Amino acid sequence: MARKVFITGIAGFLGSHIAERCLELGYEVSGCDNLIGGYLDNVPDGADFYQYDCKYLNSMKKIMQGMDTVYHCAATAYEGLSVFSPHLVTQNTYQISVSVMTAAIGVGVRRFVYCSSMARYGTQDRVPFTEDMICKPQDPYGIAKYAGELTLANLADIHGMEYVIAVPHNIIGPRQKYDDPYRNVASIMINLMLQGRQPIIYGDGMQKRCFSFVQDDIQVLEKLMDEPSVKSQIINIGPDEEFITINDLAVTIADILHFKLDPIYVPGRPQEVKLATCSAEKARTLLGYKTAYTLRRGLEEMIEWIAKRGTKRFRYTFDIEIMNDKTPKTWTQKMF
Ligand SMILES: NC(=O)c1ccc[n+]([C@@H]2O[C@H](COP(=O)([O-])OP(=O)(O)OC[C@H]3O[C@@H](n4cnc5c(N)ncnc54)[C@H](O)[C@@H]3O)[C@@H](O)[C@H]2O)c1
Repeated sequence: MARKVFITGIAGFLGSHIAERCLELGYEVSGCDNLIGGYLDNVPDGADFYQYDCKYLNSMKKIMQGMDTVYHCAATAYEGLSVFSPHLVTQNTYQISVSVMTAAIGVGVRRFVYCSSMARYGTQDRVPFTEDMICKPQDPYGIAKYAGELTLANLADIHGMEYVIAVPHNIIGPRQKYDDPYRNVASIMINLMLQGRQPIIYGDGMQKRCFSFVQDDIQVLEKLMDEPSVKSQIINIGPDEEFITINDLAVTIADILHFKLDPIYVPGRPQEVKLATCSAEKARTLLGYKTAYTLRRGLEEMIEWIAKRGTKRFRYTFDIEIMNDKTPKTWTQKMF
């Protein structure tokens, strides 16, 4: 009998790629998404789709019956927005995680793969971040992700469910939402430049990140469902090469598009971490992680996908819960 894999956030960027890979491997795949983010056409053919909100525990138990593995990808992964809409982000990050892990334990899932975030690290004395560092999340999103990790470890240990905490970071690639003004910097820049519009950069643009192409992450994420050495482990997912500034990201995209770049600079957002990258050493050692895609090649594939799908107007779908002089004008004045 084929292995049964359940994926929350299956209409999202990462969830849909994991689903596609699991189908290629011959697994039975099902998943849920409330479509607060993602795109419905991301859900791959062959996967059973439930338009359910993860917060409903009984529904989760019902649709997760008989599942062997769960990839928990659903979240409102809005790090910057979380300082201004903490209720929304915590509800759809921490609260739903507790619901999904409770359901998983309740129905006897063997292994639970939890998608955490680099936001768990906050600002550290050195980069790249290694899994043994003390977590110092500095916004409600990072706090919610880390709280989910702690709750998972606690419940899984008590009730005997295997778990792995995956820490992806700055993923790029086809199927990522590109009409969302609150997240996904590379997608936003591409959507703007393809419309002949200048990108908007927060602060001085000297924030540094390593961008991961989604296929590079998938080669590791797929191993997390079985690999014994990562049981109860935290594992960074993604490259530690090409640590670049947001300014350089804009230059690279503009270069690919032959776009005359003159970015619009706006004040920085509160609590944004300046230098953030994760060491891939543990993933290299335990899982044979290798970066196959250069940033440029990853961006080229992403541009091709967005151009083919068509540029879109940005949609401001969430309420900003705290409006004051710190709220970015990019959102209050709908600058994107
Ligand atoms: N993309 C990245 O760079 C990145 C980096 C670090 C961590 N992560 C984590 O990986 C996971 C996937 O991220 P992504 O980039 O694919 O995001 P995404 O927004 O593309 O996908 C998340 C999906 O979850 C769904 N969702 C949100 N709340 C839900 C709810 N209450 N019930 C059901 N579905 C719900 C959304 O509709 C969306 O389709 C998230 O947990 C995110 O925190 C992503």
